[in-house]
Amino acid sequence: MRISVIGCGYLGAVHAAAMAKLGHDVVGVDVDPVKLAALRRGEAPFFEPGLPELLLEAGATGRLTFTDDISAVRGAKLHFIAVGTPQRQGANSADLRFVDAAFDQLIPHLSAGDVVAGKSTVPVGTAARLAEKMAASGSDAALAWNPEFLREGFAVKDSLTPDRLVFGLPPEPAAASLAQAALREAYATALDDATPLVVTDYATAELVKVSANAFLATKISFINAMSEIAEATGADVTQLADAIGFDGRIGRRFLGAGVGFGGGCLPKDIRAFMARAEELGRGESVAFLKEVDAINMRRRHKVVEHVVDLLDHEPYGKTVAVLGLAFKPHSDDVRDSPALDVAVRLKGLGANVRATDPEAIENARALHPQLDYHASFEETVTGADVVVLVTEWDQYRYLDPEAVAPLVAARNVVDGRNSYDPARWRAAGWTYRGLGRP
Ligand code: UGA
Repeated sequence: MRISVIGCGYLGAVHAAAMAKLGHDVVGVDVDPVKLAALRRGEAPFFEPGLPELLLEAGATGRLTFTDDISAVRGAKLHFIAVGTPQRQGANSADLRFVDAAFDQLIPHLSAGDVVAGKSTVPVGTAARLAEKMAASGSDAALAWNPEFLREGFAVKDSLTPDRLVFGLPPEPAAASLAQAALREAYATALDDATPLVVTDYATAELVKVSANAFLATKISFINAMSEIAEATGADVTQLADAIGFDGRIGRRFLGAGVGFGGGCLPKDIRAFMARAEELGRGESVAFLKEVDAINMRRRHKVVEHVVDLLDHEPYGKTVAVLGLAFKPHSDDVRDSPALDVAVRLKGLGANVRATDPEAIENARALHPQLDYHASFEETVTGADVVVLVTEWDQYRYLDPEAVAPLVAARNVVDGRNSYDPARWRAAGWTYRGLGRP
């Protein structure tokens, strides 16, 4: 099947390459010449495990091309929209300008019988509005909404073998069957493997995506709220998470208490959801997300507080080693990264912040050139008055406290991800602070 993918960022680039690997003939369209040049060379423009291999493999078949020329979508039967929907500046709502621009550019090139499938995360109601826009322009292409659930760091696996598929179809039966047939053809491999499929309407498909992310954010903030209670009572939140996680109805995943969630999805998606619910007159239904957001932001503050405390409330001029900058391991993404936020706050308090990350230094430097970045872990921690773990990359997670001790000026560690065994660090002479742990 000939497919176009409009927007080649974290979502679109992986989706385009995955579709080509699955046997389709794919053209990826983007406006960024640097990104396009990398993709054409078979290089990933961002860090995503397995993506370089996938790009080379798909590229070698001759079925994957990238261009900035939107007219190249002509001839494709299915067009995926995979552009970003960031948080609007100065507001909670989603900025849909890239989605609208993608539709405006695509519509003149659509032919009868074409299907457009939106993958971007959008406020509920957007698909219906875009379908009207398409109809008003005289296009008789069909629109479907097909949300994406891939996780950064596991995007290749999640794209090739998704855990579920959701097809939000138009109300008109003819358009719905056209859209469903095209999506079934695109995802034939996954469907043959018995991947669960939910066929539904636009509003449900849009809501599945935002409610899934809202649920995940809520689960993380729930355990972080327990972390705050643990701090007031001397309880250990990691043991609490293990114990409640054994209940199959609760489950241990996403009960990792620590500095909290960040990234290009969870924070902005819960805010956009609140904004959309307000517009719908249902603000109270998701008002709890405000608390979810607030708990999350408080945890960043708590990590900073621990550091300041360990520096006897005099952070000015002290050296703090920050381990990790990406919003989570296996990613170079620093969008709304708790780690980078903590580093910048400490710098703002006058500390000499040395930061390191295996993949995210360049992205972090572009946003915050004021921090002192080091590629080498040893350089980062040498002479540090406090070491702070904020992104649990394996290389920081499995540190030997005995081996790190001779490098630092003072044996103080703040474990922002509750990744370390406190007893082991204390036995090596460190003052250990976790979150929600005695
Ligand atoms: C998230 C969802 O997990 C994906 O299903 C979704 O497709 C994606 O957003 C999206 O909307 O595109 P992602 O942003 O890649 O994926 O990251 P997650 O793995 O969900 O982690 C989000 C944040 O939560 C990270 O900062 C992570 O460190 C934090 N986290 C995660 C915790 O603090 N505790 C946990 O137990 C788990």
